[in-house]
Amino acid sequence: MGLEFIYSQPVKIYFGAGKFELLGQILKELGLRRCVAVCDPFLSPRLDALRETIPAIVGVYADVQPNPQLSGAAATAALIREREADGVVAVGGGSTLDTAKFAAAIAYNGGEALDYFRGNLVFPLEHIPVVTVPSTAGTGSEVTQVSVMSHGTEKKTINHPAFMPRAAVVDPLLTRSVPPRATMNTGLDALAHALEGYWSRNHQPISDLMAVEAVRLVMENLEAAWRDGTNPEARASMSLAALLGGLAFALPKTAGSHACSYPLSEDYGLPHGEACAFTLDSFVRINADARLEELCRRAGLRGAEELAERIAALKKLGGLRTRLAELGQVDLDKLAHDSAVHPLMKNNPVPMDEAALRRMFARLA
Ligand SMILES: [Fe+2]
Repeated sequence: MGLEFIYSQPVKIYFGAGKFELLGQILKELGLRRCVAVCDPFLSPRLDALRETIPAIVGVYADVQPNPQLSGAAATAALIREREADGVVAVGGGSTLDTAKFAAAIAYNGGEALDYFRGNLVFPLEHIPVVTVPSTAGTGSEVTQVSVMSHGTEKKTINHPAFMPRAAVVDPLLTRSVPPRATMNTGLDALAHALEGYWSRNHQPISDLMAVEAVRLVMENLEAAWRDGTNPEARASMSLAALLGGLAFALPKTAGSHACSYPLSEDYGLPHGEACAFTLDSFVRINADARLEELCRRAGLRGAEELAERIAALKKLGGLRTRLAELGQVDLDKLAHDSAVHPLMKNNPVPMDEAALRRMFARLA
């Protein structure tokens, strides 16, 4: 059968240092007149300073926590209705972006947030637009239709067209204050998006191109951004890598490392990027084939073995946990089982059942 694919990328992207300062102008250009802003608590002073120039912001929700709770999305949706907003601007990390996407999707469509979360109500495709302004370089949430949301301890990754942002404003200057460890975690998340989008069973040519460039940018810039967060070239390159990584997995979706990251985060508390990185070098070796060798060469590496070694070295440099012994008492059977049954595991190019995952984790004891 010949080559066949459907590609679409509906998000308008504004990229560049200083673009955040132009937010008011950008909202105007997008035709948004009354926006609720969702903002990381530590970024709200920056937004406040800008608000005088952005009359279109009519309300702010700034209470988003890591691992965002559904209650935050419900409160944002209520604020949207109260202020009769026609758009949402999300300024912050993945948690903030995901809260804004969920809130915008449900705000004017009736029903309770919990019913959408549980699947009792279907997300309608008609909703007010979201403009994403990422303050970290990693999640790619600025250009994907993914929202990760928790209700109590119940955590769900929901992939739905209703969550697709209208526009993304990517300003690398916003990432300057991200501390080194979070820079490493989020940078390796971006790398995982690119690699997993590339080796996903649903990969396709246009996404592949973005994956190759994202891998090259991470390999050439992550260490520099980690060493000196004020390095403008390294930060800009990592923001671009995260954006391209997001575009690289937006359609093909991720695979084995992300599947394993969910039990690692839920049961052992690893932050998302660190949880993805935990098995990423293992999956590079497991999934190594001619295509991956080609990606490595195009990204400036000798091959997959060097890629795996470089990932391990970055993890060590950043002080990330790399062995199960560092996670406390680990239930290996449950970890292997929960990883095996995660839907994303089906995207892994090499089939990985529970026994194979148990062997992989045992090597990381
Ligand atoms: Fe991720």
